[in-house]
Amino acid sequence: MKEELYKKAVTVLENNWKDSFSIPCANLYPFQWKWDSGFIAIGFAHFDMPKAQKEIETLLDAQWENGFIPHIIFHTDNDSYFPGPNFHRSDLHPLSSKKYKSTGMTQPPVIGFVLEDMYKISKEKNESLKYIETVIDKVFFNHQYFYSKRDPQNEGLVYIYHNWESGTDNSPIWDDIWATMNPPEYTFERRDTTHVDASERPSKREYDHYLHIIEIAKEHNYSDEKIAELSPFLVQDPLFNAMLIKSNESLINLYTLIGGNADKIEQLEKWQQKGKASFNAKLYDEEIGAYIHYDLRNEKPLRFLSSSSFAPLFANIPSQEKAAKMVDVMMDKFGGEDQYLCASFDPTSDRFNPKKYWRGPVWINLNWLLFYGLKNYGFNDISNRVKKDSIEMIEKNGFFEYFDSRKEIHTDGKAGYGGNHFSWSAALLIDMLNN
Ligand code: SER
Repeated sequence: MKEELYKKAVTVLENNWKDSFSIPCANLYPFQWKWDSGFIAIGFAHFDMPKAQKEIETLLDAQWENGFIPHIIFHTDNDSYFPGPNFHRSDLHPLSSKKYKSTGMTQPPVIGFVLEDMYKISKEKNESLKYIETVIDKVFFNHQYFYSKRDPQNEGLVYIYHNWESGTDNSPIWDDIWATMNPPEYTFERRDTTHVDASERPSKREYDHYLHIIEIAKEHNYSDEKIAELSPFLVQDPLFNAMLIKSNESLINLYTLIGGNADKIEQLEKWQQKGKASFNAKLYDEEIGAYIHYDLRNEKPLRFLSSSSFAPLFANIPSQEKAAKMVDVMMDKFGGEDQYLCASFDPTSDRFNPKKYWRGPVWINLNWLLFYGLKNYGFNDISNRVKKDSIEMIEKNGFFEYFDSRKEIHTDGKAGYGGNHFSWSAALLIDMLNN
């Protein structure tokens, strides 16, 4: 165990704790983010379970009356971030939270499996299960929202309507969608590029696209039906759907431990069956040898390899045979000796950029999913390399938001990019060090 590094990670989390929730990092992200909160809770669970529980409780307190959980909860006024609450206007939706301002979009549904992880980490199993009993129905309700509102063709696969919902904000995958749009040139003041170098962040034109999708949703008061009908961005994302499927599985396990709840377990099992079948039939690309995104608006597959392509390993979606093929593809394209695992986008593509946000750098949360996903299928050596690479990047550079995938760049401690003292990098390092 790396005691010094572990202590530093604990300090990062403690400094980003704001009484009842955590921020991802100061200045750049000064509010509560949905999937960040999930990963952060896993870190806290190892040394401060009450904070882990409070983190999730606060997030779920911001749930809308239709089961929706927003991607950012604006707990405070803070003008260091754009676009803030006055741009997003969650109040436009008739069922939005009356207590918290938020965005009108969501993020990958991690909370189901986060609760199960918290239970597994807990030393007080009874107490932990009692806590879970107080929140689990909210997570089930959230999954009900997804399947009833975001699966127009009833496939067991849900769509995202904004690139920020994917978590992989400016992935080169979206370039194909931007090519179908021509948004106005908005006038606005970026705040992110006052905190970090513009070369590490999305471009102005990309932001025009991001804002335009929100404007369309706002024109219709964030109506799910209207968004399904009109949003230029409507994608079935393998990372997002893998998180939902893994969370379904965890809810089944937790409801089974709690006892009763037969109707909910039955429903979850139905979603699982249909979801996994469609996932393999629709999102697996034989030729590429991994999972890809599907553009539901334009009815075409987006045939690119990214770290999201391997996330289904975490949710036990591929067969052992498919998994072996995926790992070959991953090692061939992402796993060269000169690369840290695992770049966020195909390093052999001409769209790859190892410095720019989600267009290439390594992210610790995707590495964490891969660490466990590879273990699921018995690829222990590669799983351990993912852990070793993650530790090495953090040790050399600090707890950054993302890291250059090229090993040769990691010589002077400046190969970490975006926000520093970043919560989920710390939280998931703590978890990997414990495993
Ligand atoms: N990560 C986004 C941003 O850069 C929002 O979720 O602001």
